[in-house]
Amino acid sequence: MVITIDGPAGAGKSTVARAVADRLGYMYVDTGLMYRELTAVAMERGVDPGDGDALAALVGEAPAGPVDLRSEAVSARVSAVSRHPQVRQRMRARQRERALVRDAVLEGRDTGSRVCPDAEVKVYLTASLEARAARRAVDLGLATDEVGRTIAARDRGDAEQLAPAPDAHVIDTSGLTVAEAVDAVVRLVEAAA
Ligand code: DC
Repeated sequence: MVITIDGPAGAGKSTVARAVADRLGYMYVDTGLMYRELTAVAMERGVDPGDGDALAALVGEAPAGPVDLRSEAVSARVSAVSRHPQVRQRMRARQRERALVRDAVLEGRDTGSRVCPDAEVKVYLTASLEARAARRAVDLGLATDEVGRTIAARDRGDAEQLAPAPDAHVIDTSGLTVAEAVDAVVRLVEAAA
């Protein structure tokens, strides 16, 4: 079975997707990390984030040196890198390949709509900007309003990519604990099985 979990930055996707995959013994595929890797490779090689063809040619390559893929430097550039259609086409093909190997939880922005439109269970996780900023601020040890501005900027940068599938189950995690959100997704999987 394929489960997709899409949503905006800070909605709890990674935490929930990883926990669901652990609970069910499924493979976890973090598609955002793949775009972050590409961004890091482009930064290392000095490739212009506006050059879609050059970026698409780098899909699948790994950064040569140690790099923090969740750093602000990568986060600030990843939207520009991931918006090119030729990049997305190659990424989606790789993501699809990984999902077809075995039962998987795919996490991202367009996994239920574009990567695996036939997925058996599709979830769209969302939360208020305030809740998302507060969570990221705790993770990063930064001020909430500063993180809020970064997340709002990424929402704008990702707007085109963020494509909830029409048949996705929407879960607002603003008032939920991680355990409650994970339980909600697992219940959907059990109902589909
Ligand atoms: O989930 P994340 O914050 O690690 O994702 C990093 C970026 O990658 C995000 O700002 C937009 C892009 N992304 C995308 O365009 N499509 C996806 N399926 C996943 C991520």
